[in-house]
Amino acid sequence: MALARRHTEAALAHATAFVVSALGVPPADVIEAVHARGGLVGALIGSAEHARRQVAAGVDVVVAQGHEAGGHVGRISTLVLVPEVVDAVPGTAVLAAGGIGDGRQIAAIEALGAQGAWLGSLWLTTRESVTPDAIKQRLLSATAEDTTVSRAYSGRTVRLLATDWLRAWDEPGAPQPLKAPLQGALVHETFTSIAEHGMPELVTTPVGQIVGVLGRDDTVGDAIGRLQAEYRTATARHK
Ligand SMILES: Cc1cc2nc3c(=O)[nH]c(=O)nc-3n(C[C@H](O)[C@H](O)[C@H](O)COP(=O)(O)O)c2cc1C
Repeated sequence: MALARRHTEAALAHATAFVVSALGVPPADVIEAVHARGGLVGALIGSAEHARRQVAAGVDVVVAQGHEAGGHVGRISTLVLVPEVVDAVPGTAVLAAGGIGDGRQIAAIEALGAQGAWLGSLWLTTRESVTPDAIKQRLLSATAEDTTVSRAYSGRTVRLLATDWLRAWDEPGAPQPLKAPLQGALVHETFTSIAEHGMPELVTTPVGQIVGVLGRDDTVGDAIGRLQAEYRTATARHK
């Protein structure tokens, strides 16, 4: 919480137009402070009920993130979640997230009623990404089967690149991960150590099921250009 507060203060010290939070409703004073500066507040959610709660608290934009996404995920897929959320919070802007890395998917979420797409995994292997090269290489050789949803990383369910270390937590007799934030604190040094010792087979990162098609774009600009061209082709087909 203290770290989240510091992030928020840093964002508010600049002319930040959009502040987005995850894992719960943002505190009322944060929503107020962003609004007082003319900004918008967004929130990532994984169910229609979460969306209703966020909008009731004053959130302006809901990011409906499906199970196929990288990072903390719920259990509902993007295809099912987005129209449910669109119907649950009429009049509120909804962005769709999870499994989007192609212009056809942007056309699809627009058809589901979303105003836009929110992408994460696609950027990981672009030239601008600060992801270490060892992880980029692992991502580029992974398929959609190579992610797992585990509580061993943070104590909450996170979709990330599967490794033997993560699989060991699912073995019979393995201890249950601690609740968040304790599990994150418990395993933090392990991950630092894995990175420092350059053990590529144990290195992991949050990433979604679109990991199998990463690597088509060199730069972020290339990715945007490709998404636009694919979107135009997909929507032209339905005119
Ligand atoms: C490496 C990585 C780190 C992420 N970290 C956060 C985070 O700190 N906070 C957050 O709200 N979402 C985080 N996400 C989720 C993204 O904001 C986004 O919703 C998600 O990546 C969308 O699904 P996709 O990966 O299929 O594009 C992260 C995603 C990835 C891939």
